[in-house]
Amino acid sequence: MTVKEIFDTMDYGAAPESAAEALAWLVDGGDRFGHFIGGAMTEPGEVFEARNPATGEVLAHLTQASAADVDAAVAAARRAQGRWARIGGKARAKYLYALARLVQKHGRLFAVLETLDNGKPIRESRDIDVALVARHFYYHAGMAQLMEEELPGREPLGVCGQIIPWNFPLLMLAWKIAPAIAMGNTVVLKPAEYTSLTALLFAQICQEAGLPKGVVNIVTGDGTVGERIVAHPEVDKIAFTGSTAVGRRIRKATAGSGKSLTLELGGKSPYIVFDDADMDSAIEGLVDAIFFNQGQVCCAGSRLLVQEGIAGEFAARLVERMSKLRIGNPLDKSIDIGAIVDPGQLRHIEGLMARGGGEGHVHQPVPAPEGCFYPPTLVTGLSPSSLLMQEEIFGPVLVSTTFRTPTEAVQMANDTRYGLAASVWSENVNLALDIAPKLVAGVVWVNGSNMFDAAAGFGGLRESGFGREGGWEGLMAYTRPAGRAAPVKPAKPAAKPEEMEVGGLDRTAKLYIGGKQARPDGGYSQAVFSPKGRLLGHVSLASRKDVRNAVEAARAARGWASATAHNRAQVLYYIGENLSARAEEFAARLRDMTGTTAAKAGAEVAEAIDTLFTFAAWADKLDGAAKPVPMRGVALAMNAPVGVIGALCDDRPLAGLVSVIAPAIAMGNRVIAVASEAWPLAATDFYQVLDTSDVPGGVVNILTGPHEDLAKTLAGHMDVEAVWSFSSADLSGRIERESAGNLKRTWVNNGLARTWPARDWLAQATEVRTIWVPYGE
Ligand code: NAI
Repeated sequence: MTVKEIFDTMDYGAAPESAAEALAWLVDGGDRFGHFIGGAMTEPGEVFEARNPATGEVLAHLTQASAADVDAAVAAARRAQGRWARIGGKARAKYLYALARLVQKHGRLFAVLETLDNGKPIRESRDIDVALVARHFYYHAGMAQLMEEELPGREPLGVCGQIIPWNFPLLMLAWKIAPAIAMGNTVVLKPAEYTSLTALLFAQICQEAGLPKGVVNIVTGDGTVGERIVAHPEVDKIAFTGSTAVGRRIRKATAGSGKSLTLELGGKSPYIVFDDADMDSAIEGLVDAIFFNQGQVCCAGSRLLVQEGIAGEFAARLVERMSKLRIGNPLDKSIDIGAIVDPGQLRHIEGLMARGGGEGHVHQPVPAPEGCFYPPTLVTGLSPSSLLMQEEIFGPVLVSTTFRTPTEAVQMANDTRYGLAASVWSENVNLALDIAPKLVAGVVWVNGSNMFDAAAGFGGLRESGFGREGGWEGLMAYTRPAGRAAPVKPAKPAAKPEEMEVGGLDRTAKLYIGGKQARPDGGYSQAVFSPKGRLLGHVSLASRKDVRNAVEAARAARGWASATAHNRAQVLYYIGENLSARAEEFAARLRDMTGTTAAKAGAEVAEAIDTLFTFAAWADKLDGAAKPVPMRGVALAMNAPVGVIGALCDDRPLAGLVSVIAPAIAMGNRVIAVASEAWPLAATDFYQVLDTSDVPGGVVNILTGPHEDLAKTLAGHMDVEAVWSFSSADLSGRIERESAGNLKRTWVNNGLARTWPARDWLAQATEVRTIWVPYGE
């Protein structure tokens, strides 16, 4: 091209980044790679190809891990874990810092290798992926440094199995490995089969950093390798990022195993533009939201909702902007859109477009080159229920519709089974900040999109998964309170005596639903006896229908979530006060039912009162945070209620009940508590305390009856957001399996009893929502 031609067209020339160093690294590796186990690379085994999606050329051959490979990796991680935990956070911090420095040092090699392997533009892998990876290790070096001081009494979980996707191969590796090893865990990580090369380069820098052998292990291969890691009995925790379908399978596969689990899954995130938005900025933001990484981003702003009055102009300007996007060789520094990761993914995008594109108008102002590329696409005129508005496309395809009012915008935004992220665009700060908390999303960007930082928690709601990565909140997923848990000792309720005095009055305690006593739907009840054989009364046996009624009542009480924290605190204090006024009566009930001593019964009542006062205190003190992110803005970490929580109580008749109710309602949740199956009567007496304590109807619902059936119904209910179980019947597997339907959060005891610190209760009762707002210079 001559200088004159350049001036005439004002077109970019080609500016390719050299692949020489990365290709040489692959050649040095012998083209065939094994796994990284116990600090060394293994010999290659049965191999599969790693290809460059932009050209189709084979880059290397990688080993499909066998069962023995996975066993060896887990064994290496297990051997290393004790010592890695014992050397302490400050010693671990030095290694994380070294890893951060080495990522920076080899930044160019990492970026080029990532682009070759994944097809993403070099501009992104260089300026975004690698930069965020280094930041993640720096940040978590700091977390390791501070662990003992700032997280006293917490310990690592052990060996973590980590399975990651192909859209941000190295960045997802960093998100998984950095917090895990900072807290003293060791890991077995499986990269996605399309994109394993930067993970193998990372293995090399683990060696360079002198990381103790076995702390990080990397095995390559397809989903069957992932399944083996998930099923491995020596793995204590699974952290997964990927599709909702696989997340659901993993939820079922780990059910009842005692493994902890975090899932970061798909999304269909709304991008809401109000008519007073700065249109140019909103369009630039949108280019970032949906065309970044070819739209292969779990939190991509893939669903455009534009206010009606500006929809026409907005679409025209957007199409004009799209026509300037450059699509092609990802190694070219001036390319905006690179290759789709794999021909299989390309077919997935094309298939969805073929099925749903006809429902709207398709705009594709720039053609895609031959090969594994898909052009930037806008589909306008869709209705909210259209296939393309609901399904995750995972490509550079933006779908759009219009709304009239802010209320309608919120309704449409939330009309999805996902809940990962959302963007709100308006120059009116009142409007934007009014809308942000109403969006069902783990992350909300105000006048921005796709911003990430190690300090800011990231993760979803609903079928986008559970758990957070990043920030202090991310560490909850890699630690637990120190100390051993003991097996639960189930209570032994008194059996029906041979001879029984039959009283005249029917004393059947009803259920407590929506602030009222309710007869059980099935009409069944059960007698409760004292250990000496005295009939103490009858309790209702709740059925599925009663659970459904309770869930409905709890949903209707949604106003509790927006009651002020001060108001919630007052109600909790009031419950505590009213309970203490009747302390003796409750203590007598406990003695009658359980045959315990007066001292122990009194202690249990005192404990319940103390719990109420503790969470009354916390109700207005669980501060959120303003995270200092390295860009113009702050990321607010807001503690929002989880929603409707179903909880099965342990066999402390009163303290067990109060222990779940107090933290749940303190944080704005509504709760359906299932009383101790063996000793339910104290819970039924508790209604009167609630009735006199200004608790709005539906905020607390109490059921009595068979735990196993009620747990199943609660866990399978689509309108329940979380299920907790401290039941003496070990229902953990059943609950976790049933919860896979809407991927609700679960917190189960796995047949073990332990005393959880208030912080853990509070974390379980809240969802951290990260709200990014513009702030400062
Ligand atoms: P995927 O969920 O199958 O792959 C993610 C990872 O899970 C890979 O490492 C894979 O080997 C592993 N895996 C697959 N099956 C497994 C199993 N049964 N047990 C354990 N690990 C298993 O995602 P895939 O098939 O590559 O992409 C399909 C769709 O998933 C995409 O079109 C997109 O919609 C979505 N997706 C979402 C991602 C996100 O970050 N939310 C990332 C990747 C894909």
